Amino acid sequence: MADIGKPPSWDELAEWWRETFTRGADVEYEQQILPLAAELLTGRHLVLDLGTGEGQLARHLVRAAEGRRVVGIDPSARQLANARLASGGPVYARATGEALPFRDSCFDAVACCLVIEHATDADALIAEAARVLAAGGAFLLLVNHPVVQGPGSGLIDDKLLEERYWRIGPYLNESSSEEEVDPGVRIRFAHRPLSRYVNPACEAGLVLTRLEEPAPPFDFLTDSLDLELESAMPRLCAMRFERLADRQE
Ligand SMILES: C[S@@+](CC[C@H](N)C(=O)[O-])C[C@H]1O[C@@H](n2cnc3c(N)ncnc32)[C@H](O)[C@@H]1O
Repeated sequence: MADIGKPPSWDELAEWWRETFTRGADVEYEQQILPLAAELLTGRHLVLDLGTGEGQLARHLVRAAEGRRVVGIDPSARQLANARLASGGPVYARATGEALPFRDSCFDAVACCLVIEHATDADALIAEAARVLAAGGAFLLLVNHPVVQGPGSGLIDDKLLEERYWRIGPYLNESSSEEEVDPGVRIRFAHRPLSRYVNPACEAGLVLTRLEEPAPPFDFLTDSLDLELESAMPRLCAMRFERLADRQE
């Protein structure tokens, strides 16, 4: 088998990410992810964007609410350099989600958008998000929907049997795999069942207050083989947790 080498780091992916997914380039971000995140964080003033990347969500959250302050952190220096170039209000620091450089209980909200699938220690990241939340604060976790978008899942167009259906892969098996998301662009994703996100959050003193599984935006499905089927299969899963007021400090 040919040696395909190590997957690129987020520093190496930064230009591709900026051109392909930010500044209006991606229908799902524009029509779904950014507005949904802003809606689910209504009323939160001091927000941490954990794994901010090029900062598009951080900027959107600043624009969406007057007086809101947003801090973005990311381990990738190149992603942060692009975020700083775009400016738009947020401030940035280099850090990982598993070891946040902030004191306890200092944010009204933590947003974590399509990041935890790339983190090696999801439990530590969730515990850190909970630690930095003030009482009543919100943790918004957005993930690729693990039930219907996990490894081995997707639309099957069976020409022999003349049927189209959605296959579900081995949902309960935690795994880490590389996917070619664009020609020549490989990214490593961790797959975890939903319980592996919800239960650590509950153990960290958070409660689930909203779960959204929106249909893909219509404009995303313009080349769909089966519009009826694909519009019934969510790509995104958004979970909003809130910190109980009586956690021991
Ligand atoms: C798919 S991008 C999403 C960026 C941004 N959240 C957005 O939605 O536009 C994933 C980002 O997660 C960051 N990341 C990967 N592992 C991380 C970790 N352990 N803690 C924090 N961020 C991480 C990467 O550097 C990358 O910028």
